[in-house]
Amino acid sequence: MTVRAVVCGVGHYLPKRIVENNEFEATIDTTDEWIRSRSGIERRHFATENDTTSSMATEAARAALQDSGCEANDLDAIVLATSTADFTFPSAATMVQHQLGMTQGFAFDIQAVCAGFIYALANANALITSGQANRVLVIGAETFSKIIDWSDRTTSVLFGDGAGALILEAQDGNGGPSDRGILSTDLNSDGRFRDLLYVDGGVSTGSTGYLRMQGNQVFRHAVEKLASTANNALKSAKVSTNEVDWIVPHQANIRIIQGTAKKMNLPMDRVVVTVQDHGNTSAASIPLAMSVARDRGQIKRGDVLVTEAIGGGLAWGAVVLRW
Ligand code: UT7
Repeated sequence: MTVRAVVCGVGHYLPKRIVENNEFEATIDTTDEWIRSRSGIERRHFATENDTTSSMATEAARAALQDSGCEANDLDAIVLATSTADFTFPSAATMVQHQLGMTQGFAFDIQAVCAGFIYALANANALITSGQANRVLVIGAETFSKIIDWSDRTTSVLFGDGAGALILEAQDGNGGPSDRGILSTDLNSDGRFRDLLYVDGGVSTGSTGYLRMQGNQVFRHAVEKLASTANNALKSAKVSTNEVDWIVPHQANIRIIQGTAKKMNLPMDRVVVTVQDHGNTSAASIPLAMSVARDRGQIKRGDVLVTEAIGGGLAWGAVVLRW
């Protein structure tokens, strides 16, 4: 018998404020046409004054709990991926724990920027397969609107806010690729590329700072590294490309998503795409896409998913799982 971390619930939360591309035309030198053609983004949700990373994470968690039929006190752990926690500390995860009324177990944040949810899945999988937890709530939640320089047209049009959550639970498998649950993980980072994507603030500067990105440089790394990490994860899972039902990519740019699918020889009708409606929600983008795709009827029980992301660090990775 092999212990597998199996998805038993999924949910998401999007803040009510929706901003269409053309709203940016009033304040910066940009056009709806430029944003759509270069990124695939048409609109994004931004946090209202009532939304914080921890409040959105809590709403996504409640939706996932309801989907799973579990209560908060049935959880052993919360792993929350974010680069925009409400405070320097405590972790957003412990704030979610409290807001859910969960008084047992443990909770912590993971910070790997846009690759955060991949890192969170890998950590939750390790907790479950090593016997340290039986049921783990894994959340990606971000409020990138708080770290945007609204005068910078090269970044301000790209990002959005939101949260998505999965619940993973220990189930017995036979150790092969026909098992449900996480089948493999592949994590990578390379700090030499720090200057391509970073926030120019933090405890060393005394201010929160703003996101800075050399987008076209990140783009160059993205397609190659994403296809490579996804192929590595597929190989470890002993799953061939033609057995993949869905790629669930980080939703940063439709051209990166198309380029990665092409490099992997997978058609776009097997790719979950939400970037047009959410923009880039960093660590929230993958669980948001999974939840929306499940609601659309795209992802079904037994389907093989490969999910991949890259972001600041650079940090990147992929997970293969059977839903
Ligand atoms: O999630 C974390 C990882 N992040 C990513 O994966 C993002 C990766 N990068 C990208 O998605 C793309 O590089 C962008 C969407 C950010 C930019 O697209 P691009 O095709 O790489 O454009 P570029 O940066 O090479 O800029 C082309 C031109 C420049 O003008 P010049 O120098 O050619 O005159 C920019 O100044 O487009 C200009 N530009 C804009 N024009 C209108 C940049 N932003 C805008 C804008 N509106 N908002």
